[in-house]
Amino acid sequence: MAVLVQFSDGHFFDDWAPMLRALDPTLDLRNWPDFGKAEEIEAAVVWRHVYGSLNQFPNLKVICNVGAGVEHILADPELPDGVPITRVIDPRMTGAMSEYMILHVLRYHRRLDETVRNQAAKVWEYLAPDNAATTTIGILGLGELGLDAAAKIGALGFRMAGWSRTKKTLPGIETFHGTAGLKPFLNQCKMLICLLPLTPETASIINAETLAALPQGAYVINGARGGHVVDADLIAALDSGHIAGATLDVFPIEPPAQDDPYWTHPRVTITPHNAADSFPEDVAPQLVENIRRAVLGEELLNVVMRDRGY
Ligand code: NAP
Ligand code: GLV
Repeated sequence: MAVLVQFSDGHFFDDWAPMLRALDPTLDLRNWPDFGKAEEIEAAVVWRHVYGSLNQFPNLKVICNVGAGVEHILADPELPDGVPITRVIDPRMTGAMSEYMILHVLRYHRRLDETVRNQAAKVWEYLAPDNAATTTIGILGLGELGLDAAAKIGALGFRMAGWSRTKKTLPGIETFHGTAGLKPFLNQCKMLICLLPLTPETASIINAETLAALPQGAYVINGARGGHVVDADLIAALDSGHIAGATLDVFPIEPPAQDDPYWTHPRVTITPHNAADSFPEDVAPQLVENIRRAVLGEELLNVVMRDRGY
């Protein structure tokens, strides 16, 4: 069975193809743009595919995204109608994102940046952390990643709050939902974590108005997409001191330009979109399983709802 593999910069083919073939030696993997006869392609395994390239396969039965976020696929103006799209849900990815969030929450909570600066200046200054039990960590997005991060950060003793599209009742998390729930949620967050999918509704959600709704001295940690942040608004809030610090793993253009002010901002930490990756040995099995199911017309795993945008 012929499967198109299309990563933005082809070299990943050599990382993924051996694992996919080991799981199903009958897969005839075709690395973009050498896909052979278009009518033979029945499945596509993609990450940041070329727009307009997926509508030429009349027998395409599934588009398997090699990551969690599908905004790039859904923004394709020539995306073929009716072909199901799947995304990755993977325990290693979920665990890695929670590690990332715990790392930066604790770093801010325990005032590590100030401590390191003090050491460099040979200053011995006692810096008291806030009481975790009265410090609210808020998570935008209570899906696969947000729920795991909330449970693990909550287990460290913090007060947890979360915001989602639909109403939820969850043990140990004060929940908010929808537009009406956003401001009351933000008002209490000492640290704001973003783990939303990028959709037309969530784009630019971290902006002057929402930042102003956070308490003075709050922190922002974005592990979702750069498009969630209005960069000029975040920089203004950092410059004014209203936002004490920001940790950003994702950017509208990656890497950010050399003259992007984030690189040198004293209150900003940049990480190179490495919060939570997809590794072939962990993720290939669900891709192969979805290809098998698609060809047999069986129910797929981790299906994206196109109308919802995630
Ligand atoms: P998910 O399981 O689809 O969960 C999405 C959550 O966001 C859900 O709780 C959903 O609400 C909520 N949501 C969506 N639209 C909303 C809206 N308009 N208002 C309020 N809440 C809304 O997604 P996930 O697997 O947790 O992943 C989240 C994102 O993380 C991905 O889309 C990707 O962009 C990013 N990511 C980044 C990395 C990295 O390395 N930096 C790695 C993996 C993923 P409901 O529960 O009500 O549906
Ligand atoms: C990574 O950013 C993903 O969406 O999986």
